[in-house]
Amino acid sequence: MLRSHTCGELRISNVGQTVTISGWVQGVRDKGSLLWIDLRDRYGITQITIETDKAAKEVIDTARSLGREFVISVTGKVTERYSKSDKIETGAIEIYPDNLQILNTALTPPFTIEDETDGGDDIRMKYRYLDLRRNPVRQNLELRHRMAIETRNFLDKLNFLEVETPVLIKSTPEGARDFVVPSRMNPGEFYALPQSPQTFKQLLMVGGFDRYYQIVKCFRDEDLRADRQPEFTQIDCEMAFVEQEDILNTFEGLVSHLFKTVKGIDIPKLTRMTYADAMKYYGNDKPDIRFEMKFVELNDVVKNKGFKVFDDAGLVAGICASAAAEYSRKQLDELTEFVKRPQIGATGLVYARFNADGTIKSSVDKFYNEEELKKWAVAFHAKPGDLMLILAGEENKTRKALSELRLEMGNRLGLRDKNTFACHWVIDFPMLEYNADEKRYFAMHHPFTSPKPEDIHLLSSDPGSVRANAYDMVINGVEIGGGSIRIHNKPLQSQIFDLLGFTKEEAQAQFGFLMSAFEFGAPPHGGLAFGFDRLCSLFGGSESIRDFIAFPKNNSGRDVMIDSPSPIASAQLDELAISLKK
Ligand code: AMO
Repeated sequence: MLRSHTCGELRISNVGQTVTISGWVQGVRDKGSLLWIDLRDRYGITQITIETDKAAKEVIDTARSLGREFVISVTGKVTERYSKSDKIETGAIEIYPDNLQILNTALTPPFTIEDETDGGDDIRMKYRYLDLRRNPVRQNLELRHRMAIETRNFLDKLNFLEVETPVLIKSTPEGARDFVVPSRMNPGEFYALPQSPQTFKQLLMVGGFDRYYQIVKCFRDEDLRADRQPEFTQIDCEMAFVEQEDILNTFEGLVSHLFKTVKGIDIPKLTRMTYADAMKYYGNDKPDIRFEMKFVELNDVVKNKGFKVFDDAGLVAGICASAAAEYSRKQLDELTEFVKRPQIGATGLVYARFNADGTIKSSVDKFYNEEELKKWAVAFHAKPGDLMLILAGEENKTRKALSELRLEMGNRLGLRDKNTFACHWVIDFPMLEYNADEKRYFAMHHPFTSPKPEDIHLLSSDPGSVRANAYDMVINGVEIGGGSIRIHNKPLQSQIFDLLGFTKEEAQAQFGFLMSAFEFGAPPHGGLAFGFDRLCSLFGGSESIRDFIAFPKNNSGRDVMIDSPSPIASAQLDELAISLKK
C-alpha cells in the first residue's frame, strides 16, 4: 500500500508514529522558513509541515515544485501541532516528512476544488471527476450509498429478494418515450430500455417469488427538469398476496427506517389524502403539506356583484396567507406578475388585506363593499393581519395556478424548510385520464393497475370516474414513489387494454406474454417504486437530483464529459441495418 493511514485519520494518539499518507495537494503555503502542504483524500485533510532549516534539501525542493492537485505520498513523523485547528478533524497534529514523493503531476484544475467552488455548472460537469473530489459532491454520494445499504437491510429482513431484470427489453408503456437499441442480429428490430421493470416484477410474482425488490436503472426519454434524468434509479418493489393496505404499511416502514437510520429522525405515521381532496384543496396531486394554506372556493360568495372576471369564471378560489396583510404594493405587484407568467397562466390576481385594525381593503373595492369583504374573510377563516389572494378562471387552470401561488407564498413566508419533512400518501387516483387531443383514455398510472372493485361496474358506462387502487408517496411536495395493486386476471386486463384503445391484436402483440402468464395461476399482487435519486436529494436537502448522481446528464440529455450522445461510424450503422435520413 502507498499509505499506512488516510488523510482523515491521524489524531493526537498517533503522535510519535512514523506514517505514510497519500493524496492530492489541496494547497501549499511557503513562508520561507516554513512550508505547509495540505494533503487531501476522501477522508480528510492532513497538514504536512516542512522546516526549511532542518528538512532534507530533496524534500524542500520537491515541496516547492508542487502544484494544486499533484498526487503525492509523504512519510514522516506525526507531531503535535503548536497551534491546533478545530476546522479539520486532524487539526491537532501535523507530519514532518522525511520522504516526499510525487506520484503524479496535475494540470491546474479549471475550478477550485473547495466546498464553495468558483466553477459553474457546465465546467463542473465537463470535469466531473474533479468535481467528485469536492466534499459536498462526495458527501452526497456517501449519503446515496448509505440509503442503498439501509434499503437493502430493511427489505432483506422482510424476506424481499433482490432480483435483476433485463435491460434489453421491449417497450413498457409508462407514459414516456422509450430509448431504443437496434439489434444487429435481427435487422430492423429494436430492443427498448426499460422505463421500469414493471412487467418483469409482475412475472416474478407469477413465478412465485412473492417479495421482490431491485435498486435498478430506468430509462425514459422525456423532457428533463431538476427532478428528472433520462436514466434514473428506482427502488422497485413488488409483493404477492397483498392488498393496498399491506403495501402502504410495508413501504412506509421502509421510509421510516431510512429517516431513522440515515437522518436520525422519527417520522410520524403517514397521513393519507385522496386524489380528489388533493386536487380540491391543493390543486396538485403531490401537495406540499408542510404548511396548510388550503384552497377556499368562493363561487357562492363572490358571484353576481357586477365583477365580470368573477362572474364569468368557472372557479373563483383563493388562499389565505397568515400575517401577510402588510405586504407592500410592490410585493403584491410581484405576486401578480408571478401568476401572470405564461407557465402559471392566470390572467390576474385579486387580493384583500384584513388589516390589523379589523378593516378589509381589496383590489376590487369598486365591486365589493366592506360588508361583502367580511363574508370573504369568514369563508377564508381569515384573522386580522391576514392576506387573502384570489384567482379566477377555468376550473382546472385556476387550480393549477393557485397551486403555484400557494407554493410561492409558502416559500416567501418561510414555510418550506428543507429540514422539515411532511410525508403522506395520496390514494384513490383515477384509473384513466381523458386526452382531448387524442380523443382517448390513457392509464393514469399504467395499464396494469387494478380498478377499485367497487368501481368496476363503471368501466363501461363512465370510465373517467373509475378510481384505481393506486397510490403515491409524497414528501414535501415531491412525488417520491408510486404504485398500485395490479390486475391479475386476463379478462379484466383485456378489458382495460380495450378501453385504452388497443386492438386485440395490438394487446396480444405487446402484452401477450403477460396475459398468458395470468392464465397460469397469477397470485394477487401489487407494489410500488420509489425514485431513489429523488429520495436521496430530499434527504440531502437539494432540489436537484443531479447532485446525487455520480455522472449525470445535463438538461439536454447530454453527458458533456464523455460527449454523448454522439454520431456513430457509417460502418456501424450499416451493420445495424440503419440508414439515416439526409
Ligand atoms: P412511476 O412512473 O410513478 O412508477 O415511477 C416511480 C418513481 O420514479 C421516480 N421517477 C423519476 N425520477 C427521476 N427521473 C425521472 N425521469 C423519473 N421518473 C420517475 C419518481 C416516481 O414516483 N412501474 C411503476 C411503479 C409501480 O407501479 O410499481 C413506476 O415506474 O419518484
